[in-house]
Amino acid sequence: MSMRKLSFTATALALGLVASSALAEGPGLGVPISEADIAAWDITVFPSGANLPPGSGTAAQGAPIYAEKCALCHGINAEGGIAARLVGGEPLTTGIDVGKTIANFWASATTLFDFTRRQMPWQAPRTLTDDEAYALTAYVLALNGIIDEDEEMNAQSLPAVQMPNRDGFMPRFPELMP
Ligand code: HEC
Repeated sequence: MSMRKLSFTATALALGLVASSALAEGPGLGVPISEADIAAWDITVFPSGANLPPGSGTAAQGAPIYAEKCALCHGINAEGGIAARLVGGEPLTTGIDVGKTIANFWASATTLFDFTRRQMPWQAPRTLTDDEAYALTAYVLALNGIIDEDEEMNAQSLPAVQMPNRDGFMPRFPELMP
C-alpha cells in the first residue's frame, strides 16, 4: 500500500472514530419524550379490538352527535353529501367500479371507531371523546342494519360485530383480525 493510501486510510479511520464518538454523545438537542406524550398519540385500534379505550355508546346517543357534527358533510341519515355516504352501498359483486362503503367493504367495525376517533370531524380531528366515538360508531353501524338500534358498543362488543364483508379479505396478519 502506498504512503498516500495509508495516510488516507488513517485519516478516514480517525474521522470515523470522531464521528462515532460524536454520535454517541448526541448533539444535546431536545428532551426525551415522556410516556404521557407517547400515550396521547398511541391511539391505534387494531381490527381485533386491541387498544380500544374504556367507554361506551349507543346509536341513540350517537344520533344527536351525528346531527351536530357530521351531517353537514355526510348528509342527513348519513346518505352522503359533500363527503361520502356512510350508509348503504351496492353489493361489490355487481362490478369492480362499485363504490366501497362501510357496509359493503370494511372488514372490521373497530376500524370505523379508529377512523372516526382519529380523523373526524374532518375540520376538527381528535376532538371527539371516546364515548362520542363509540356512540357515533354504534349509530353508523345501526343505520346500516349491522347491529341492533339498542346495542351498546364498547371494547368488548365492538370487536364482536360481524361486518358483512368480513370474509372478503385475505388478511396479512390474521392474528390481528377480530
Ligand atoms: C367538514 C366535512 C366533514 C365532517 C364535518 C365530517 N366528515 Fe367524515 N369525512 C369527510 C371527508 C372529506 C372524508 C374522506 C376522508 C378520507 O378519505 O381520508 C370523510 C370520511 C369519513 C369516513 C370514512 C368513509 C369511507 O367510507 O371511507 C367516516 C366513517 C366518517 N367520515 C365519519 C364521520 C363522522 C362520524 C363525523 C362526525 C363526527 C364526520 N365524519 C364529520 C368529511 C367530513
